[in-house]
Amino acid sequence: MAVKKFGSEWTKSTMMKSALLFLTHFILLIAIIAGLLFGDKLFGGLREYMQEYGADYLYALFCLFLLTAITYFYFLFENRDVLASGKNIALLFAVLDLYFVLAWLIGEKINIYARPVAFVALMIFVLLGRREAIFMNMISALLLFVIDTFSGSSSSVTEYYSSLIISFSAGMIAIFFCSKARTRFRVVLIGILIVIPIDFILFLLELSALIDGTAGSAGLTPFESVMKHLGYGLFGGVMSTVIFLAFLPIFESIFNCLTAFRLRELTSSDARILRKLKQEAPGTYNHSMMVAQLAEASAAAIGENVDYARAAALYHDVGKLHYPEHFTENQGEYNLHDELTPELSADIIRSHAKDGYTLIKAHHLPDFFADVAIQHHGTMPIRYFYAKALKMTDGELNIEDFSYLGPKPQTKIAAIVMIADASEAAVRAVDARKPEQAEKAIRAVIEERMDLEQFSECDITMADLTKIRQALVNTLTGVYHHRIKYPNIKYKRTENGTKGESE
Ligand SMILES: [Fe+2]
Ligand SMILES: [Fe+2]
Repeated sequence: MAVKKFGSEWTKSTMMKSALLFLTHFILLIAIIAGLLFGDKLFGGLREYMQEYGADYLYALFCLFLLTAITYFYFLFENRDVLASGKNIALLFAVLDLYFVLAWLIGEKINIYARPVAFVALMIFVLLGRREAIFMNMISALLLFVIDTFSGSSSSVTEYYSSLIISFSAGMIAIFFCSKARTRFRVVLIGILIVIPIDFILFLLELSALIDGTAGSAGLTPFESVMKHLGYGLFGGVMSTVIFLAFLPIFESIFNCLTAFRLRELTSSDARILRKLKQEAPGTYNHSMMVAQLAEASAAAIGENVDYARAAALYHDVGKLHYPEHFTENQGEYNLHDELTPELSADIIRSHAKDGYTLIKAHHLPDFFADVAIQHHGTMPIRYFYAKALKMTDGELNIEDFSYLGPKPQTKIAAIVMIADASEAAVRAVDARKPEQAEKAIRAVIEERMDLEQFSECDITMADLTKIRQALVNTLTGVYHHRIKYPNIKYKRTENGTKGESE
């Protein structure tokens, strides 16, 4: 799944731009296919070849154009987010380009049945989504069928039809099982499952050839021929997932896609920056884990993407890595701010939002993390140092010198992280075992941010804020409530063994 553009507007010019981009990528796709089909004829014989088969290829070109146009209109009516971003269109065609090159190479060098038929379905499923994958699986199967039929690479027409059915069913099976594949390794297992429809069709094909009496060609017995074809099917199924796993990281990084796999890797405690945070700022790390739990519950309550919320929350304070010891959660008994002016302290504290943004960008992590990191304090004042400065001066103070620089949260998830972050600290300061106390603290956190217009640039509603408050109260009181007080017991060693007495 790719990160959706929040609040993207659809205008006539966006439509024109996306249609032009689609056309450009289609021309590139045709150039690649033509290169594969006629590459060897470029240095002679192309003119004669075209005189003979030109009309057929023109018809094929029309079919390919029609299928591409249908793809454009499908996304125009069903999911404009795909068309709204040039990156997504490029991604869509890059997957198709790569698939046709691989299919041609394997089809030419090995066999038409050994092609990685589920590659498009797997890639689009992970990079764009399930519905997009189902549609693109049909389209890629049809496109390959058109190319096969008109390029005449195979000797038998039955092979084209079988190949069409195999491509479609293998891709669909891959999509059905893909939602359960939570790790990259499990995807390899899907490769084995895809083999079932491929080999079933190939087996039927061989059976019909046996009945026809045409089986066992090329000096092979019917049994050897069946085994050979089943072997090709196995190769095609497994290669679909192997090639998918090999190219997915490249696509993830070129198109900066936040796939479920990448998200899982980035949120594991082994992820580079999180590991550093654990070692150098353990207090911040524990706080981030808690905020992640709260953000997850809040996102679930308002129907936002739970995985994105959790991941963004884990990274929200990584900017504290620059001066970890200047933040309360990492301090021991000694407070470094005692030696600094309130202005300087406020400057160090507020820089963690911008530093987080820069650090995340420098590590080529998803833009979405960087946006949440820089927005999670909005333009809120740093109350502690503002109050400290007020005590030290009789003159006027500019509150903006003691405030975060923004921007304010631009998405619901950034707003969730802002509220979860402040609530975690606020509830820690009160007796959180009592839900009324926790509710009061969280209500104050939300109201303060509403008074200071922190939610004016994102589309969060009052209903969302109420649901978030309830989710936070439930989670926080749940966390602190289960810390049961154990009775103190004194142990005494007697002649008959050890005895316990309650104090
Ligand atoms: Fe922060
Ligand atoms: Fe924080």
